[in-house]
Amino acid sequence: MNKKLFPAIAFGLLSLLAVGGAISACTGTSAEAPDKSDVEGRIEALLSQMTLEEKIGQLNQLTGVGCQPARIQEIRSGSVGSILNEVDPDTVNALQREAVENSRLGIPLLIARDVIHGFKTIFPIPVGQAATWNPALVEEGARIAADEASSVGVRWTFSPMVDVSRDARWGRVAESFGEDPYLSGVLGVAMVKGYQTDDLSQPNTMAACVKHFVGYGASEGGKDYNTTWIPEPHLRDVYLPPFKACADAGAATFMCSFNDINGMPTNADKHLLRDILRGEWGWDGLMCSDWSSIQQMVPQGYCRDLKETAEKAANAGVDMDMQSFAYIGHLKELVEEGKVSEKTLDDLVRNVLRVKFRLGLFDNPYVDTATARRFFTASNLDASRRAAEESAILLKNEDGVLPLKPGIRIALAGPMMDARHDQNGTWVFDLEKDSTVTVLDAMKEMYGAGRIIEAQGLGFSRDKSSAAIASAAAKAKGADVIVYVCGEEAVLSGEAHCRTDLTLPGAQKEMLARLKATGKPVVTVVMTGRPMDITDVVANSDAVLYCFHPGTMGGPAIANVLSGKVNPSGHLPVSLPKASAQQPLYYSHKNTGRPAEGITLIDDIPLEAGQTSTGCTSFYLDAGDGALYPFGYGLSYTDFSYGPVVLSSDRMATDGSITATCEIENTGSVKGSTVAQLYVRDMVGSLCRPVKELKGFDKIELAPGEKRTVSFTVNASDLAFHQADNTLAVEPGDFKLWIAPDSESGDAKDFIVE
Ligand code: BGC
Repeated sequence: MNKKLFPAIAFGLLSLLAVGGAISACTGTSAEAPDKSDVEGRIEALLSQMTLEEKIGQLNQLTGVGCQPARIQEIRSGSVGSILNEVDPDTVNALQREAVENSRLGIPLLIARDVIHGFKTIFPIPVGQAATWNPALVEEGARIAADEASSVGVRWTFSPMVDVSRDARWGRVAESFGEDPYLSGVLGVAMVKGYQTDDLSQPNTMAACVKHFVGYGASEGGKDYNTTWIPEPHLRDVYLPPFKACADAGAATFMCSFNDINGMPTNADKHLLRDILRGEWGWDGLMCSDWSSIQQMVPQGYCRDLKETAEKAANAGVDMDMQSFAYIGHLKELVEEGKVSEKTLDDLVRNVLRVKFRLGLFDNPYVDTATARRFFTASNLDASRRAAEESAILLKNEDGVLPLKPGIRIALAGPMMDARHDQNGTWVFDLEKDSTVTVLDAMKEMYGAGRIIEAQGLGFSRDKSSAAIASAAAKAKGADVIVYVCGEEAVLSGEAHCRTDLTLPGAQKEMLARLKATGKPVVTVVMTGRPMDITDVVANSDAVLYCFHPGTMGGPAIANVLSGKVNPSGHLPVSLPKASAQQPLYYSHKNTGRPAEGITLIDDIPLEAGQTSTGCTSFYLDAGDGALYPFGYGLSYTDFSYGPVVLSSDRMATDGSITATCEIENTGSVKGSTVAQLYVRDMVGSLCRPVKELKGFDKIELAPGEKRTVSFTVNASDLAFHQADNTLAVEPGDFKLWIAPDSESGDAKDFIVE
């Protein structure tokens, strides 16, 4: 019998046995047609035909090597469930054909890629997208990324990363939505929706993979892959909520993290993967490991050998093994020995098949090469530019140096002014850097090349050679204003790219000082992958625009903001420190028994002063306390006034809600947007509570003189927190509430929960 036809017939008959009887009785349709919408029925029908080897094969994910004979053989024998890093549509179709037409059961492959902030059209890095505080824009970016990547056959992306990131040393802050659980959850959901849409089975979608489950952002010392210590109530209040939000939004897959939590590698953590994720949350998606994270339980000191890692991960509920070769090498033996039950194995396989069915891969496995490569369309570039514009955060603007006046001569300086590769940031495997529009390109286009003086001075961000700085400064002196574009190259953030010094690398500080010394106004644009210590930058600049790595259209976006064509509206999704060592730093800290007061800094301490000369409160001698710029902060070319907060009631039942409103007015002379942020504080708890927690936000645009009232419903459930026994409860008592444009300003309004 034809090898291809046999499984198809067998599958049809078995589907029929499972579900078809009822269908044909009801509909009278042909007995062969399985009910395509009955995913669970189709899974069971298929599972019942699978050999042990074929089941284990579905759990095996390998990186792409093209169409090598050995790979073809692996696919034909059914020992590969997914391939990551194949992005050529013809190769994808060729491999898929081997799976669908030349393997016994014809199960399609899941083709995966790290499409983190765009595929070809690159959007701002995720922390930059978070600075937009605009979920619709984040969703649009993910939609475009999915459309571009699926056009070459990628149907699974390892994004979004919703690891709450409170340590700027950690390179992966770049991939996160910043330090806040609520903001990370809202934006994570927006990305999931953008990738998956309401109908994952459409060929232009990708399954999202919410990562890294969980606590990875708490890596000790901000050093990648490091251990974490997270008490469970804190895990549940801070690190789990964005994952829960994405699970509730229908995220098809999750990825396990590299770290251990309190000594237990997440890849072996039954409590996390089974009790919480599957049990409490009822999630039925696919959990994949991270790259060789199953195998890494050996060096982590948790397992003796690869076989034991497979046993632990499978029993904990890791469905797919990315590049550890632990499942393919050892699961069969483990099942035969009874160390992993067949029921456990079947459940892992079900989770993999479920995603393949949901993606419509069984019905439509191939890429349509006629419509392949939908890249860099005008509307995609436009969306990338808008995202970059809204991600730019104006931190300082003295004497109205910005927006730049028309008709002036502008010196462009600094290593990131024409950084075609580096302005795209980390995780851009598919970058075509010639499509990037730099600040230099855009400023020449906008102002005319004759008005731009090129004074780059440093070749790249780590460049320590001061040789060209003096001549660059001399050239810049001939301009009316200097725009200094500095920061970090793409490779200084992202996975395994952690730093202890959070200031500008190389000779960039020296160059800025030289530019300042020209006496010309200096506008500094910081392009970076993390919250940096920009204390020196602020001191030596008249204006500061903090951009993160803005992507393909960063140049036009920044030119539009500098020129005033676009009014900046980005707000910080992270706290900017006053010193590198001030980490971790986040607004939502506990108050301590001795909150910072009466700060005496190092140079103000009298000689031979007594032990208590600094007031004995919680701060650093050389950095004081708090952020240089706080979470939520961002200026505009206009001014906004926030009226008093009005509560519908100052009392709330433990199952009730109140409404908080605030009238906001644009008191300046240009149209602009502000981000109204709702914060609460629980004054007394059975566990100490943070000084503030973000519970809502609303980005609104107002014309000059326009007023609008923002309104938030605060439910008692929003005030709940995890108790010492890990249960969630709303505790009666006194609360404070703010509606403000950042996490430090605004007057508190009191209310009582009773
Ligand atoms: C990273 C993941 C990524 C995976 C696949 C790992 O090293 O931690 O975030 O998705 O590689 O490339």
